[in-house]
Amino acid sequence: MNQERRGEKMRLGGFFHPTGNHVAAWLHPGAQIDAGTNFRHYAAITQIAERGRFDLMFVADAVAVRDGKLNALKRWPQYMAYFDPLTLLPALAAVTSRIGLCATATTSYNEPYHIARKFASLDHISNGRAGWNVVTSSALNEAWNFGRARHFEHGERYDRAVEFVEVVKGLWDSWDDDAFVRDRSTSVYFDPAKLHALNHKGPHFSVQGPLNVARPPQGHPVLFQAGSSDIGREVAARFAEGVFTPQHTLAGAQEFYRDLKGRMARYGRPPDALKIMPGLNAIVGRTKKEAEETHRFLQSKIHPDVGLEVLSNQLGNFDLSEYDLDGPLPDIEESRWALASQSSTRNIIRWAKEEKLTIRQIYERFAGARGQRTLIGSAVDIADDMETWFRGYGVDGFLVHPPYLPGGLSDFVDLVIPELQNRGLFREEYEGETLRENMGLERPKSRYAS
Ligand SMILES: Cc1cc2nc3c(=O)[nH]c(=O)nc-3n(C[C@H](O)[C@H](O)[C@H](O)COP(=O)(O)O)c2cc1C
Repeated sequence: MNQERRGEKMRLGGFFHPTGNHVAAWLHPGAQIDAGTNFRHYAAITQIAERGRFDLMFVADAVAVRDGKLNALKRWPQYMAYFDPLTLLPALAAVTSRIGLCATATTSYNEPYHIARKFASLDHISNGRAGWNVVTSSALNEAWNFGRARHFEHGERYDRAVEFVEVVKGLWDSWDDDAFVRDRSTSVYFDPAKLHALNHKGPHFSVQGPLNVARPPQGHPVLFQAGSSDIGREVAARFAEGVFTPQHTLAGAQEFYRDLKGRMARYGRPPDALKIMPGLNAIVGRTKKEAEETHRFLQSKIHPDVGLEVLSNQLGNFDLSEYDLDGPLPDIEESRWALASQSSTRNIIRWAKEEKLTIRQIYERFAGARGQRTLIGSAVDIADDMETWFRGYGVDGFLVHPPYLPGGLSDFVDLVIPELQNRGLFREEYEGETLRENMGLERPKSRYAS
């Protein structure tokens, strides 16, 4: 095996879809059936991940229920009964001490001031463990909840996102780190020379500032990005410090890794300032056979209505119900899905064209893993593969998507983590107090620092 990267540790995050990553996770007897609105469940899984020394836990978000055919949706709980992440994460901060707490917040249907304030608050509440996954919404029905009849175009979404992030970072610098002197002897609470109004005026936002929260413990909460299209990569190169991405082959991951890290120089950033963490739908068993049984069970529970609905969503709501499930995917013109997630859709089209998968095979692969790469096996099998990808510079780490929760996560922590630790690939103890320190990311200086 390639011995590069000796001594370097991989980064690990846990992606917590409430009942688990598999689209039929909630049908597994080991899944917490009411997970989406069960705080004790989130507390338990976050503590399990912290026991496994994960860098971070991550919750995705949408500001709408899923849209589509109720006949399918009634069998698919995602986003139907779901906590607001920025209400959930501060509560999780109180029952954990080291793990990073990361959530999505959309730049399409929020104001930068709100987001700056909420993540700054989370960073204080958690003593420096906040992370923000910056997304641009792609579901049309999110637009309908915010006074818009149509969605922003793909490019416009990213434009808005870039300005949004600039404003948020500016607001986080509103106060110098030592602005609050709180001196009873002089009766001065803060030093006005260390307070800065942003006075931002741009195409999308006009924000005066300053923010009514002290500078976050991490300076800026850690910024994540999860779009992998050309423009998504460019945006990531500009500001992301962690990137979540669906990668299915080592060669593809290496290309993505080189390309994205290569783009960073344009923004004066060293490659190390960004950690690439592709998704890993890891199904682990005490033996490979046991893992395969778990996978087979979950796959057998994908109702065809759900499989088709997941695919159709991904393909710009193209209705597949009239097509033979065991036949080929019809040609779908790009203009249909250009508004949606481009990278995952391209993967689907590639599987149809190059691997000649049928509609059923595609939805089984895609829905079963929610677009991410699946690995099924014993701890040794899974660690071998992770090591190859890590040493081969395809990744800096992984975003682990447990197939069902909590069992799929505790199996990973109890079986795979010790295997990675024995190989020197993963930490035994947290290195630092903050998410930045643990991820090996620098604390950003304030833009006003001399
Ligand atoms: C691991 C991961 C998590 C994501 N989480 C969210 C999310 O919570 N909310 C959301 O609207 N989009 C989410 N996305 C979608 C991305 O932000 C992005 O819109 C999508 O990957 C399409 O980007 P692209 O067109 O640049 O490829 C996620 C994507 C990935 C890979």
